[in-house]
Amino acid sequence: MSEEKQRKTLELSREEMRDFGYRVIDMLLDYYDERADKPVAETLDYEALNAILREPLPREGMPWRDAMAQFERQVVNTSNRVDHPRFFAYIPLANNFVSVMADSLAAGYNIFNAVWLQGPGAAQIERLTVDWLRQIFGLPAEAGGTFVSGGSVANLTALAVAREAHLSGEKRDAVAYCSDQIHFAVSRGMRVLGFAPEQLRKLPSDDEFRLPLAPLREAIAADRAAGKRPFCVIASAGTTNTGAVDKLSALADLCAAEDLWLHVDGAYGAPAILTEGGKSALKGLGRVDSLALDAHKWLFQPIECGVVLVRDRRWLPRAFKETSEVLKDMQSDGEELNFMYQGIQLTRQFRALKLWLSFKVFGLDAISEAIAAGFQNAELAERLLREAGCWEIVTPAQMAILTFRYQPSTGDEALADRVTHDLVGRLLDDGYAFASGTQLRGKPVMRMCCNNPRTTPADLRGTILLMGRLAAELEATLRDAPASDQDARVKT
Ligand SMILES: Cc1ncc(COP(=O)(O)O)c(C=O)c1O
Repeated sequence: MSEEKQRKTLELSREEMRDFGYRVIDMLLDYYDERADKPVAETLDYEALNAILREPLPREGMPWRDAMAQFERQVVNTSNRVDHPRFFAYIPLANNFVSVMADSLAAGYNIFNAVWLQGPGAAQIERLTVDWLRQIFGLPAEAGGTFVSGGSVANLTALAVAREAHLSGEKRDAVAYCSDQIHFAVSRGMRVLGFAPEQLRKLPSDDEFRLPLAPLREAIAADRAAGKRPFCVIASAGTTNTGAVDKLSALADLCAAEDLWLHVDGAYGAPAILTEGGKSALKGLGRVDSLALDAHKWLFQPIECGVVLVRDRRWLPRAFKETSEVLKDMQSDGEELNFMYQGIQLTRQFRALKLWLSFKVFGLDAISEAIAAGFQNAELAERLLREAGCWEIVTPAQMAILTFRYQPSTGDEALADRVTHDLVGRLLDDGYAFASGTQLRGKPVMRMCCNNPRTTPADLRGTILLMGRLAAELEATLRDAPASDQDARVKT
């Protein structure tokens, strides 16, 4: 093909495409080989990033190799390595190569997975994969669902269905309930759906950071007495802060008795049901009305692989179906296979492909073992922290998450707050490992999420040794610093 023709049709020669594709694979393989030896995070300062952002819109093209070199330099090398074996912050996102290839295939073939007649094979695979998930979580045969971008949209989609099922289009006086540990995706979802902040009652969590049953019952009764319309309880199957799992069986009983929709945010923790420890913690998960799941968290998919499951799948098209003249010819009898009616997207990527292909290639047993590794690693981390003698375990390992605070030799709580708070920045500067902080009952804590199956015991030992050394250095600096300097430090 002439260069002139290629430019007009936005194509590359076969040769160039092949070189480009192989270069991409080589880059990824080098990255996987070298990842554990690289810093967990490398950041550019604002000035340097700003310089990149100010690049003018190119009128002329450039060789793809140059553009790729820029990508490597300015994007790859400035991104936190969220799949690094010593990245324990937030929720680590360890993906797998099979699913990476599946994402490339979905993009390469540009499969339009919205309408049955335009891609029945893809629709079948999405339906089948959703059904595998349904079986994993113990939902009945009438359950169904759809792939979405992630946990936030999965929660939003489920709450839209709950609104449809319980409120008949009238939001006035409606109330939903959750604990103060709920992920902000739920509050945001409620806001997007038009609920006022006071229509989501966030009850103070119990000693184990779970939604407490007695106060929940009382709140529902008080709301009913005041003429409000309770419609939904939103529980967590693994909070981001501590991995706490709400009492799902008891909540299912309560919701059945009170005629409330039970939605569970299982974005992080739900896949743990594939392990022994997770199965008992998640007892009752099969009784929910809807479940939000993030396969890009603990099912090892590349980013953007959320799923929403609904106990009675007929509610999905009831909430989302619209008629369209343009798509009239595309209707089929099997309504549930037209994924454009199962959620808020029409044109949709074929996200199910990556989960389907990785289930096929690795098998459920290997995936379950990879999840179980997270439990084992968190338990080992807890043991090592206890042995180190300078940490207080705030919440023990549960669902592969644990939280802890530095304990200065003097027992000074204010100093413990400062060291724990400042440690995150020190870790980032060091680059060997990264764990993030959070607040529990108003106090700073460190947390480690250990769900990456490629984390080794040596990674955990090295990280805990490093945290101990950095914390001791911080303690010495802060103890010796004048109070005014200390205040300035804490505020930064
Ligand atoms: C418990 C929980 N729910 C919801 C979300 C939101 O998911 P996403 O970031 O995929 O939108 C997260 C993200 O960390 C989460 O941990």
